[in-house]
Amino acid sequence: MKAARIHAYGDADQIRVEDAPIPAIGPDDVLIRTVAASVNPVDWKIRRGYLEKMLPYDMPLTLGWDVSGIVEAIGADVTTFKPGDAVYSRPDIRRNGTYAEYVAVRAREVALKPTTISHVEAASLPLVSITAWEALITTAGLQPGQRVLIHAGAGGVGSIAIQLAKAKGAHVTATASQGKTALVRSLGADEVVDYHNPTAFAAARDMDIVFDTIGGDTQDASWAMLKPGGFLVSITAPPSAERALAEGKRVGFVFIDPNAAILRDLAQLVDGGKIRPLIGGEFRLDDAAKAQLASETGRTTGKIVIYTGQP
Ligand SMILES: NC(=O)c1ccc[n+]([C@@H]2O[C@H](COP(=O)([O-])OP(=O)(O)OC[C@H]3O[C@@H](n4cnc5c(N)ncnc54)[C@H](OP(=O)(O)O)[C@@H]3O)[C@@H](O)[C@H]2O)c1
Repeated sequence: MKAARIHAYGDADQIRVEDAPIPAIGPDDVLIRTVAASVNPVDWKIRRGYLEKMLPYDMPLTLGWDVSGIVEAIGADVTTFKPGDAVYSRPDIRRNGTYAEYVAVRAREVALKPTTISHVEAASLPLVSITAWEALITTAGLQPGQRVLIHAGAGGVGSIAIQLAKAKGAHVTATASQGKTALVRSLGADEVVDYHNPTAFAAARDMDIVFDTIGGDTQDASWAMLKPGGFLVSITAPPSAERALAEGKRVGFVFIDPNAAILRDLAQLVDGGKIRPLIGGEFRLDDAAKAQLASETGRTTGKIVIYTGQP
Protein backbone atom coordinates (compact mmCIF):
# COMPACT_ATOMS: atom_id res chain seq x y z
CA MET A 1 0.00 0.00 0.00
CA LYS A 2 0.97 3.66 -0.28
CA ALA A 3 1.79 5.51 2.96
CA ALA A 4 3.30 8.86 3.97
CA ARG A 5 6.05 7.97 6.44
CA ILE A 6 9.11 9.40 8.12
CA HIS A 7 12.33 7.48 8.75
CA ALA A 8 13.79 10.20 10.99
CA TYR A 9 12.51 13.32 12.77
CA GLY A 10 12.88 16.64 10.98
CA ASP A 11 11.43 19.04 8.42
CA ALA A 12 8.57 18.26 6.06
CA ASP A 13 11.04 16.96 3.47
CA GLN A 14 11.49 13.93 5.75
CA ILE A 15 8.03 12.75 4.64
CA ARG A 16 8.27 10.00 2.03
CA VAL A 17 5.23 8.73 0.20
CA GLU A 18 6.27 5.13 -0.44
CA ASP A 19 5.23 1.49 -0.49
CA ALA A 20 4.62 -0.01 2.94
CA PRO A 21 3.16 -3.33 4.07
CA ILE A 22 -0.61 -3.42 4.70
CA PRO A 23 -0.78 -3.48 8.54
CA ALA A 24 -1.39 -6.85 10.20
CA ILE A 25 -4.43 -6.85 12.50
CA GLY A 26 -4.56 -8.22 16.02
CA PRO A 27 -7.65 -9.97 17.48
CA ASP A 28 -9.13 -6.65 18.72
CA ASP A 29 -8.38 -4.63 15.58
CA VAL A 30 -10.25 -3.66 12.47
CA LEU A 31 -8.42 -2.99 9.22
CA ILE A 32 -9.77 0.22 7.67
CA ARG A 33 -9.41 0.89 3.94
CA THR A 34 -9.02 4.63 4.27
CA VAL A 35 -10.75 7.24 2.12
CA ALA A 36 -9.43 10.33 3.89
CA ALA A 37 -7.23 11.41 6.77
CA SER A 38 -6.93 14.86 8.28
CA VAL A 39 -4.03 16.94 9.52
CA ASN A 40 -3.67 18.16 13.11
CA PRO A 41 -0.82 20.24 14.58
CA VAL A 42 0.25 17.19 16.62
CA ASP A 43 1.17 15.46 13.31
CA TRP A 44 3.95 17.92 12.49
CA LYS A 45 4.93 18.27 16.16
CA ILE A 46 5.52 14.49 16.18
CA ARG A 47 7.32 14.66 12.80
CA ARG A 48 9.65 17.34 14.22
CA GLY A 49 10.43 15.13 17.25
CA TYR A 50 8.85 17.51 19.80
CA LEU A 51 7.02 14.61 21.51
CA GLU A 52 9.92 12.15 21.31
CA LYS A 53 10.27 11.68 25.09
CA MET A 54 6.55 11.17 25.64
CA LEU A 55 5.98 9.01 22.54
CA PRO A 56 9.08 6.94 21.67
CA TYR A 57 8.27 5.69 18.15
CA ASP A 58 9.97 3.01 16.07
CA MET A 59 10.86 4.23 12.56
CA PRO A 60 9.58 4.28 9.89
CA LEU A 61 6.44 5.94 11.25
CA THR A 62 3.23 6.55 9.31
CA LEU A 63 1.91 9.99 10.31
CA GLY A 64 -1.69 11.17 10.90
CA TRP A 65 -4.26 10.25 13.54
CA ASP A 66 -7.69 10.93 12.02
CA VAL A 67 -9.42 8.67 9.52
CA SER A 68 -12.65 7.91 7.71
CA GLY A 69 -13.03 4.82 5.55
CA ILE A 70 -14.47 1.34 5.10
CA VAL A 71 -13.86 -1.71 7.28
CA GLU A 72 -11.90 -4.16 5.12
CA ALA A 73 -11.31 -6.94 7.68
CA ILE A 74 -11.88 -7.62 11.38
CA GLY A 75 -9.82 -9.36 14.06
CA ALA A 76 -10.89 -12.70 15.52
CA ASP A 77 -12.47 -11.14 18.65
CA VAL A 78 -14.28 -8.22 16.98
CA THR A 79 -18.08 -8.38 17.12
CA THR A 80 -18.97 -4.69 16.79
CA PHE A 81 -18.10 -4.11 13.12
CA LYS A 82 -18.22 -6.05 9.87
CA PRO A 83 -16.47 -5.64 6.55
CA GLY A 84 -18.12 -2.88 4.51
CA ASP A 85 -19.07 -0.67 7.50
CA ALA A 86 -18.35 3.04 6.97
CA VAL A 87 -16.41 4.20 10.02
CA TYR A 88 -14.34 7.05 11.44
CA SER A 89 -11.77 7.19 14.23
CA ARG A 90 -9.06 9.02 16.06
CA PRO A 91 -6.82 6.01 16.65
CA ASP A 92 -4.14 5.46 19.29
CA ILE A 93 -1.37 7.97 18.66
CA ARG A 94 1.19 5.41 19.85
CA ARG A 95 0.62 3.29 16.74
CA ASN A 96 1.23 3.89 13.02
CA GLY A 97 -1.14 6.51 11.65
CA THR A 98 -3.64 7.20 8.92
CA TYR A 99 -1.82 8.94 6.03
CA ALA A 100 -1.99 5.56 4.28
CA GLU A 101 -4.31 3.43 2.18
CA TYR A 102 -4.94 1.08 5.13
CA VAL A 103 -4.70 1.44 8.90
CA ALA A 104 -5.19 -1.08 11.73
CA VAL A 105 -7.22 0.40 14.60
CA ARG A 106 -8.56 -1.14 17.82
CA ALA A 107 -12.29 -1.71 17.32
CA ARG A 108 -13.03 0.08 20.59
CA GLU A 109 -11.55 3.29 19.10
CA VAL A 110 -13.84 3.18 16.04
CA ALA A 111 -17.41 4.44 15.48
CA LEU A 112 -19.82 4.33 12.56
CA LYS A 113 -19.32 7.53 10.59
CA PRO A 114 -22.13 10.11 10.36
CA THR A 115 -24.31 9.15 7.40
CA THR A 116 -25.07 12.66 6.12
CA ILE A 117 -21.50 13.74 5.35
CA SER A 118 -18.73 12.47 3.08
CA HIS A 119 -15.68 10.51 4.21
CA VAL A 120 -13.59 13.61 3.53
CA GLU A 121 -15.74 15.63 5.91
CA ALA A 122 -15.90 12.81 8.48
CA ALA A 123 -12.10 12.49 8.52
CA SER A 124 -11.86 16.12 9.62
CA LEU A 125 -13.81 15.54 12.82
CA PRO A 126 -12.54 12.92 15.30
CA LEU A 127 -9.46 14.45 16.95
CA VAL A 128 -10.71 18.02 17.17
CA SER A 129 -14.21 16.98 18.27
CA ILE A 130 -13.02 14.63 21.02
CA THR A 131 -10.74 17.46 22.18
CA ALA A 132 -13.50 20.08 22.27
CA TRP A 133 -15.87 17.65 24.01
CA GLU A 134 -13.32 16.57 26.64
CA ALA A 135 -12.37 20.20 27.33
CA LEU A 136 -15.77 21.89 27.42
CA ILE A 137 -18.10 19.15 28.62
CA THR A 138 -16.08 16.49 30.47
CA THR A 139 -13.52 18.82 32.12
CA ALA A 140 -15.15 22.26 32.42
CA GLY A 141 -18.69 20.84 32.87
CA LEU A 142 -20.36 23.24 30.42
CA GLN A 143 -24.01 23.95 31.30
CA PRO A 144 -26.80 25.54 29.22
CA GLY A 145 -26.83 29.34 29.52
CA GLN A 146 -23.17 29.65 30.51
CA ARG A 147 -20.92 32.23 28.88
CA VAL A 148 -18.00 30.58 27.08
CA LEU A 149 -15.02 32.17 25.34
CA ILE A 150 -13.28 30.03 22.72
CA HIS A 151 -9.86 31.14 21.47
CA ALA A 152 -9.05 30.59 17.76
CA GLY A 153 -12.66 30.10 16.71
CA ALA A 154 -11.64 29.62 13.06
CA GLY A 155 -9.14 26.83 13.85
CA GLY A 156 -9.67 23.09 13.74
CA VAL A 157 -10.58 22.72 17.42
CA GLY A 158 -12.26 26.13 17.74
CA SER A 159 -14.62 25.67 14.79
CA ILE A 160 -16.07 22.51 16.35
CA ALA A 161 -15.93 23.87 19.93
CA ILE A 162 -18.17 26.81 18.93
CA GLN A 163 -20.79 24.50 17.42
CA LEU A 164 -20.62 22.05 20.32
CA ALA A 165 -21.03 24.82 22.91
CA LYS A 166 -24.01 26.24 20.97
CA ALA A 167 -25.55 22.76 20.69
CA LYS A 168 -25.31 22.52 24.50
CA GLY A 169 -27.06 25.88 24.95
CA ALA A 170 -24.14 28.17 25.82
CA HIS A 171 -23.62 31.83 24.91
CA VAL A 172 -20.44 31.77 22.81
CA THR A 173 -17.78 34.40 22.27
CA ALA A 174 -14.92 33.41 19.95
CA THR A 175 -11.64 35.08 19.04
CA ALA A 176 -10.49 35.35 15.42
CA SER A 177 -8.80 37.75 13.02
CA GLN A 178 -11.14 40.37 11.62
CA GLY A 179 -11.20 38.71 8.19
CA LYS A 180 -12.65 35.54 9.71
CA THR A 181 -15.45 37.23 11.69
CA ALA A 182 -18.26 36.34 9.27
CA LEU A 183 -17.15 32.74 9.06
CA VAL A 184 -16.96 32.36 12.84
CA ARG A 185 -20.44 33.91 13.20
CA SER A 186 -21.75 31.44 10.61
CA LEU A 187 -20.57 28.63 12.92
CA GLY A 188 -22.88 30.03 15.61
CA ALA A 189 -20.71 32.39 17.67
CA ASP A 190 -22.85 35.07 19.34
CA GLU A 191 -19.89 37.46 19.55
CA VAL A 192 -16.54 37.55 17.78
CA VAL A 193 -13.52 39.35 19.23
CA ASP A 194 -10.64 40.40 16.96
CA TYR A 195 -7.65 39.19 18.95
CA HIS A 196 -5.40 41.72 17.15
CA ASN A 197 -7.43 44.57 18.71
CA PRO A 198 -6.24 45.02 22.33
CA THR A 199 -9.30 47.08 23.33
CA ALA A 200 -11.79 44.50 22.06
CA PHE A 201 -9.71 41.69 23.55
CA ALA A 202 -9.58 43.38 26.97
CA ALA A 203 -13.36 43.94 26.89
CA ALA A 204 -14.12 40.19 26.87
CA ARG A 205 -15.07 39.59 30.52
CA ASP A 206 -17.34 37.63 32.91
CA MET A 207 -16.95 34.24 31.27
CA ASP A 208 -17.93 31.02 33.01
CA ILE A 209 -15.45 29.11 30.85
CA VAL A 210 -12.47 30.14 28.74
CA PHE A 211 -11.13 27.50 26.33
CA ASP A 212 -7.41 28.13 25.71
CA THR A 213 -6.25 26.65 22.40
CA ILE A 214 -3.23 28.95 22.03
CA GLY A 215 -1.21 29.07 25.29
CA GLY A 216 1.49 31.64 26.26
CA ASP A 217 0.25 35.24 26.39
CA THR A 218 -3.24 34.14 25.34
CA GLN A 219 -3.52 31.82 28.31
CA ASP A 220 -2.17 34.56 30.55
CA ALA A 221 -4.78 37.05 29.32
CA SER A 222 -7.53 34.45 29.76
CA TRP A 223 -7.53 34.69 33.56
CA ALA A 224 -8.97 38.21 33.50
CA MET A 225 -11.74 37.09 31.15
CA LEU A 226 -13.19 34.74 33.79
CA LYS A 227 -15.79 35.60 36.38
CA PRO A 228 -15.04 34.52 40.00
CA GLY A 229 -15.25 30.72 40.14
CA GLY A 230 -14.90 30.51 36.35
CA PHE A 231 -13.07 27.65 34.61
CA LEU A 232 -9.92 27.99 32.46
CA VAL A 233 -9.45 24.84 30.41
CA SER A 234 -6.40 24.47 28.17
CA ILE A 235 -5.17 22.02 25.54
CA THR A 236 -1.74 23.65 25.15
CA ALA A 237 -0.23 23.87 28.67
CA PRO A 238 -1.61 23.24 32.19
CA PRO A 239 -2.74 26.56 33.76
CA SER A 240 -1.23 27.30 37.20
CA ALA A 241 -3.12 25.61 40.06
CA GLU A 242 -1.57 28.13 42.50
CA ARG A 243 -2.92 31.07 40.54
CA ALA A 244 -6.32 29.40 40.35
CA LEU A 245 -6.39 29.08 44.14
CA ALA A 246 -5.26 32.68 44.62
CA GLU A 247 -7.87 34.06 42.19
CA GLY A 248 -10.74 31.74 43.19
CA LYS A 249 -10.93 30.17 39.75
CA ARG A 250 -10.76 26.61 38.47
CA VAL A 251 -8.41 25.10 35.91
CA GLY A 252 -8.02 21.96 33.82
CA PHE A 253 -5.75 20.55 31.11
CA VAL A 254 -6.72 18.02 28.47
CA PHE A 255 -4.52 15.71 26.36
CA ILE A 256 -6.89 13.46 24.53
CA ASP A 257 -7.07 9.71 24.07
CA PRO A 258 -9.23 7.83 21.56
CA ASN A 259 -12.93 7.95 22.52
CA ALA A 260 -15.47 6.11 20.38
CA ALA A 261 -18.35 6.96 22.75
CA ILE A 262 -17.87 10.66 21.97
CA LEU A 263 -17.67 9.85 18.24
CA ARG A 264 -21.03 8.02 18.46
CA ASP A 265 -22.67 11.03 20.18
CA LEU A 266 -20.97 13.37 17.71
CA ALA A 267 -22.38 11.41 14.74
CA GLN A 268 -25.88 12.08 16.10
CA LEU A 269 -25.17 15.82 16.41
CA VAL A 270 -23.79 15.89 12.85
CA ASP A 271 -26.67 13.91 11.37
CA GLY A 272 -29.09 16.10 13.37
CA GLY A 273 -27.64 19.20 11.69
CA LYS A 274 -26.08 20.62 14.88
CA ILE A 275 -22.44 20.32 13.82
CA ARG A 276 -20.94 20.68 10.37
CA PRO A 277 -17.34 20.07 9.38
CA LEU A 278 -15.27 23.01 8.18
CA ILE A 279 -12.72 22.07 5.52
CA GLY A 280 -10.03 24.65 4.77
CA GLY A 281 -7.77 22.70 2.43
CA GLU A 282 -7.63 19.41 0.53
CA PHE A 283 -4.48 17.56 -0.55
CA ARG A 284 -3.57 14.27 -2.26
CA LEU A 285 -1.58 11.70 -0.27
CA ASP A 286 1.40 12.45 -2.53
CA ASP A 287 1.28 16.02 -1.19
CA ALA A 288 1.22 15.07 2.52
CA ALA A 289 4.30 17.27 3.12
CA LYS A 290 2.50 20.30 1.62
CA ALA A 291 -0.53 19.56 3.79
CA GLN A 292 1.62 19.60 6.92
CA LEU A 293 3.40 22.80 5.84
CA ALA A 294 0.00 24.48 5.50
CA SER A 295 -0.96 23.39 9.03
CA GLU A 296 2.38 24.59 10.35
CA THR A 297 1.58 28.19 9.33
CA GLY A 298 -0.94 28.29 12.22
CA ARG A 299 -3.22 30.39 10.00
CA THR A 300 -5.43 27.75 8.38
CA THR A 301 -9.21 27.84 8.59
CA GLY A 302 -11.00 24.70 9.80
CA LYS A 303 -9.34 21.42 8.90
CA ILE A 304 -6.91 20.27 6.22
CA VAL A 305 -7.84 16.92 4.72
CA ILE A 306 -5.73 14.39 2.80
CA TYR A 307 -7.31 12.05 0.24
CA THR A 308 -5.86 8.61 0.92
CA GLY A 309 -8.09 6.31 -1.14
CA GLN A 310 -11.16 5.93 -3.34
CA PRO A 311 -14.63 6.84 -1.97
N1 LIG B 1 -4.05 18.60 24.22
C1 LIG B 1 -4.70 18.02 23.21
O1 LIG B 1 -5.21 16.89 23.33
C2 LIG B 1 -4.84 18.77 21.91
C3 LIG B 1 -5.76 18.34 20.96
C4 LIG B 1 -5.93 19.08 19.79
C5 LIG B 1 -5.14 20.20 19.56
N2 LIG B 1 -4.23 20.57 20.47
C6 LIG B 1 -3.39 21.78 20.25
O2 LIG B 1 -4.27 22.90 20.24
C7 LIG B 1 -3.76 23.89 19.36
C8 LIG B 1 -4.86 24.31 18.38
O3 LIG B 1 -5.14 23.20 17.51
P1 LIG B 1 -5.99 23.45 16.18
O4 LIG B 1 -6.08 22.15 15.48
O5 LIG B 1 -7.23 24.19 16.47
O6 LIG B 1 -4.98 24.43 15.39
P2 LIG B 1 -5.15 25.14 14.00
O7 LIG B 1 -6.36 24.65 13.28
O8 LIG B 1 -3.84 25.07 13.30
O9 LIG B 1 -5.40 26.69 14.41
C9 LIG B 1 -5.31 27.63 13.40
C10 LIG B 1 -6.14 28.84 13.78
O10 LIG B 1 -5.60 29.51 14.92
C11 LIG B 1 -5.90 30.89 14.80
N3 LIG B 1 -4.99 31.64 15.65
C12 LIG B 1 -3.64 31.64 15.62
N4 LIG B 1 -3.16 32.43 16.62
C13 LIG B 1 -4.25 32.92 17.28
C14 LIG B 1 -4.41 33.77 18.42
N5 LIG B 1 -3.36 34.28 19.08
N6 LIG B 1 -5.68 34.01 18.85
C15 LIG B 1 -6.75 33.50 18.21
N7 LIG B 1 -6.66 32.70 17.12
C16 LIG B 1 -5.42 32.43 16.67
C17 LIG B 1 -5.72 31.16 13.33
O11 LIG B 1 -6.55 32.22 12.95
P3 LIG B 1 -5.90 33.56 12.32
O12 LIG B 1 -5.50 33.21 10.94
O13 LIG B 1 -7.05 34.51 12.42
O14 LIG B 1 -4.73 33.92 13.18
C18 LIG B 1 -6.19 29.85 12.65
O15 LIG B 1 -7.51 29.93 12.18
C19 LIG B 1 -2.50 23.29 18.72
O16 LIG B 1 -1.38 23.73 19.45
C20 LIG B 1 -2.68 21.80 18.91
O17 LIG B 1 -1.47 21.08 18.93
C21 LIG B 1 -4.06 19.90 21.65
